[in-house]
Amino acid sequence: MKIIGTGAVHPTCAVSNEMLEKFLDTTDEWITERTGIKERCVISSEKLEDMAYEAAKRALEDANLTAADIDFLICSNVVNEYVTPALSCIIQGKLGATCPTVDINAACAGFIYAMDIADDKIKCKKAKNILIVCAEEPSRMVSWQNRSTCVLFGDGAGAAVVTEGDELKAIRLTTSSLTEVLYYQRHLEPTPYINKDENFEPLVMKGREVFKHAVSSSCKDIRRLLSQTGLEPNDIKYYVLHQANKRIIDSIRNFLGVDESKVPHNVERYGNISSAALPALLDELNRGGKLQKGDKLVFSAFGAGFTTGACVIEWAK
Ligand code: UT7
Repeated sequence: MKIIGTGAVHPTCAVSNEMLEKFLDTTDEWITERTGIKERCVISSEKLEDMAYEAAKRALEDANLTAADIDFLICSNVVNEYVTPALSCIIQGKLGATCPTVDINAACAGFIYAMDIADDKIKCKKAKNILIVCAEEPSRMVSWQNRSTCVLFGDGAGAAVVTEGDELKAIRLTTSSLTEVLYYQRHLEPTPYINKDENFEPLVMKGREVFKHAVSSSCKDIRRLLSQTGLEPNDIKYYVLHQANKRIIDSIRNFLGVDESKVPHNVERYGNISSAALPALLDELNRGGKLQKGDKLVFSAFGAGFTTGACVIEWAK
């Protein structure tokens, strides 16, 4: 499998730390020091499906393909306005594609899970060109009165087109059921028969525990992949890591012993946009002319579940 196109869209409403200071007991200093985030873009007038469609369109254009060339569409999403139909069905209709589609929810690691599914479909010749769209609005899962969570997240969409090739060198997924450290429950309609306690609350997160799991699992995944592929940490051009917190990114970089220049980041501008973070950062590198054919890239992400995913891929464009 190889990546032949990328695209991304961020909402227009940029919320700075100073704007949050006006209604939360927080400071720019605290947020910057503990997370590296300076601002995040959150949905205001946009609809997530429109952003997802636009990111997908940009990725298709970058790949020189049209919607008719796509054999399968995978959408990675945690929440959106619809429980059903799947967001991928809505995106398919907007694009005018006719291929089958599916939504997956592997939280922030969703892009790597989608790549793994795409790789399998391509290998068994069920599809040639696959469109992956990661579209997320975590700003709608948090309480905007809770300073511990709402300052961390932003919304956005990132997409990638993948096709047949030898460029995916190794991929690793892990899931370890650790549901109490990070969860968000869906509000369900009452029925005349429900007689159990149901307390639907905004996103719950034990930040410190998530932090520790994130750093240790990402380092473990990356080390395994490097040893599997016979690569040294410095053979990698860029480590495209999940953008949740600059301190997490720095810790992973320090454990790996690689230079800052190898670990690009945009968390300072967008906050944590869940599974859209990886394809959006990749799109920034691609469109910014930072990638050359043959460059080796490592992707690594972690999220609620606890899920992790990582891969080594050679840039093919
Ligand atoms: O995709 C996965 C998503 N999640 C993550 O990646 C999150 C991983 N965890 C983290 O990034 C960090 O744990 C946080 C940024 C969430 C928190 O940083 P921390 O250094 O672990 O701080 P803490 O939670 O231990 O809180 C320290 C203090 C507390 O006050 P007390 O109890 O010591 O008086 C918090 O109430 O900081 C307080 N605090 C804040 N203060 C000002 C928490 N949020 C804020 C805030 N502004 N926004």
